[in-house]
Amino acid sequence: MNYDVTVIGSGPGGYVAAIRCAQLGMKTAIIEKYNSLGGTCLNVGCIPSKALLDSSEHYFKATHEFKEHGIDIGKPKINLKQMIQRKSEVVDQTSGGVEFLMKKNKIDTYHGLGSFVDKNTIKITDAEGKEQQITSKNTIIATGSKPMIIPGIDYDKKRVITSTEALNLSEVPKHMVVIGGGVIGVELGSVYARLGAKVTVVEFLDSLIPGMDSTLAKELQRVLKKQLGFQYHFKTKVTSAQTKGKEVIIKAENSKGEEIELKADYCLVSVGRKPFTEGLGLEKAGVESDERGRVKVNDHLQTNVSNIYAIGDVVQGAMLAHKAEEEGVFVAEALAGQKPHINYKLIPGVVYTWPEVAGVGYTEQELKASKRKYKVGSFPMRALGRARASMDIDGVIKVIADAETDEILGVHMIGARAADMIAEAVVAMEYRASAEDIARMSHAHPTFTEAIKEACLAATDNRALHV
Ligand code: FAD
Ligand code: NAI
Repeated sequence: MNYDVTVIGSGPGGYVAAIRCAQLGMKTAIIEKYNSLGGTCLNVGCIPSKALLDSSEHYFKATHEFKEHGIDIGKPKINLKQMIQRKSEVVDQTSGGVEFLMKKNKIDTYHGLGSFVDKNTIKITDAEGKEQQITSKNTIIATGSKPMIIPGIDYDKKRVITSTEALNLSEVPKHMVVIGGGVIGVELGSVYARLGAKVTVVEFLDSLIPGMDSTLAKELQRVLKKQLGFQYHFKTKVTSAQTKGKEVIIKAENSKGEEIELKADYCLVSVGRKPFTEGLGLEKAGVESDERGRVKVNDHLQTNVSNIYAIGDVVQGAMLAHKAEEEGVFVAEALAGQKPHINYKLIPGVVYTWPEVAGVGYTEQELKASKRKYKVGSFPMRALGRARASMDIDGVIKVIADAETDEILGVHMIGARAADMIAEAVVAMEYRASAEDIARMSHAHPTFTEAIKEACLAATDNRALHV
């Protein structure tokens, strides 16, 4: 065999798996069909979206908050070309970093489409059509996902777009209709709303970010409407989107069965993503997938073919970069004979709007449905000195603990820097802390983290100090 392990796909799942395999002494190869390494996350996902979220946030602050801070800069102007250019530079640097890591760890990188010839042989076809074959004792499938397009949507990539095109627009839309009020819809909707677009969200369910705790959804809806003028059509299902010249006509049906028609110059389709296995030749290796096209795996992320594993967006579970990374490490360590573990309930979810939204553990809806007895402690950001100092008073932190044992079951937050603060909750929950444990720990003053302590005090015995 040429390799102990071959990883197909260089996203956060694949490249992290490759590094860990190499660290553990395995001769490792990685195959990526594009020239640039890093997958969806680095090239058209996490990193570029956060770069644009950051730039648009600066613009929003300059136009809406600087004056109050006592900073007069005249009327700021958007240079979208430069904003996109900076984003692309961040992507190139980050992808270059992955290339460096592959070399540093002596991982052989192949550029081209990887496809199974049999369970130990993989063919690599490069952009010019040149083929080569390698053999591998084990293979990790990490081929990720692609945007989902629903029937009736005329996805022309110019006016009816997905997140991929939305990261490269050459003008700020006048009116952007966002189909799907999930994570991509609110993040990229925020980018263009901050730059001046009118944003209308059409969502099939009854709130934004429906998978998260409903307290967060309610607060996010309120803030995005107040701050950026977001408009919503909830319980409304889009049935078609067609481009006519420079206009997109979107048709939808609400819960009363009435038809709604919206007109926009851009329509962002963000209705979820689907696993990507096209051209991979799963059938040649005998690897099974499920009814949703995900590669079927057992608890050890092993497919029905014992030397082939699969991780990340292409398998079941949350489609998140850090989930993919944990799975990459898990498979590498399992292959090395170790006994790794992933606590899926403690994989945090974060939405990078402003205020940021983050949650880990059980939501209140889930606990209600399971009939488990719980108690809730909440603390509003507006009661926090640090939040007042920076004018970030929107948001709330909610801690849910077991009614009898006080063990923290879920932490849900919306507020400034929630994306980073959720790590405290993950650590606490991994060590099975009680709400009182956190309530008794010193949190630096003035910081946003004091809101976590206060929410834990509230959950303990309704002992919050500052409300
Ligand atoms: P991917 O990153 O999709 O990588 C798969 C790679 O495999 C791709 O490079 C693909 O070209 C390659 N490939 C596929 N088939 C083959 C083949 N046959 N041969 C060779 N190569 C192949 N997640 C977060 O946690 N935080 C965020 O902030 C976040 N923001 C996001 C923003 C956007 C706009 C989008 C779209 C996604 C975002 N995500 C975020 C989700 C995140 O990008 C994915 O969960 C993550 O990239 C999944 O990693 P992966 O390794 O499973 O697959
Ligand atoms: P999503 O699953 O988060 O949201 C899709 C939304 O579209 C759902 O709320 C759904 O009810 C709605 N929908 C579906 N069909 C519809 C229709 N016909 N009409 C109206 N609404 C409809 O998916 P999204 O936003 O596309 O993101 C894909 C994945 O990317 C997510 O699963 C997420 O994990 C990942 N991601 C993560 C980010 C982060 O961690 N910050 C950022 C961006 C993406």
